[in-house]
Amino acid sequence: MKSYLLAVLLCASPLLAAEKAQPVERTLSIIKPDAVASGHIGEIIEYFEHDGLKIAAAKLVRLTPEQARDFYAEHKGRPFYNDLVNYMTSGPVLIQVLEGEDAVARNRRIMGPTNPADAQEGTIRHDFGTDIGHNAVHGSDSLNSAKKEISFFFKDSEIVKH
Ligand code: CMP
Repeated sequence: MKSYLLAVLLCASPLLAAEKAQPVERTLSIIKPDAVASGHIGEIIEYFEHDGLKIAAAKLVRLTPEQARDFYAEHKGRPFYNDLVNYMTSGPVLIQVLEGEDAVARNRRIMGPTNPADAQEGTIRHDFGTDIGHNAVHGSDSLNSAKKEISFFFKDSEIVKH
């Protein structure tokens, strides 16, 4: 009986391991002007690294109004669009490609919901955000958006392989 159970476990373990492994993905992250200005870049990066995300590319830039408008074009026409563009161009931002298992969803869990008021303690938006318009970080909302957003800011040659 014991050897039968052992055989079943040995046969099943590669399947169980395969189920647990998540695909390695890339996602785009922006540490926004408020979090950069208040000196929280280092702490925010720790949240990503402690949860298994690696930095595959990074640049500190001041977005032009045109870049901010294009990047957030899907929100054009919404009441907060102009404020969002003004805010995103108000100071430098740290733009990163983060890589890891299930990176898109993982980054969204680490950030917490868009509105810091809804975010749980220990998430970046709870810990560093002020309000929905000043929420410390942006992260891609799907794998498809991640691909578009990464290519908006980075050439393939600027992204390292770990
Ligand atoms: P982000 O993840 O960068 O994506 C779009 C941004 O628009 C979002 O974070 C918020 O900062 C901002 N945003 C979304 N909804 C609102 C809102 N109702 N009022 C103000 N800003 C908003």
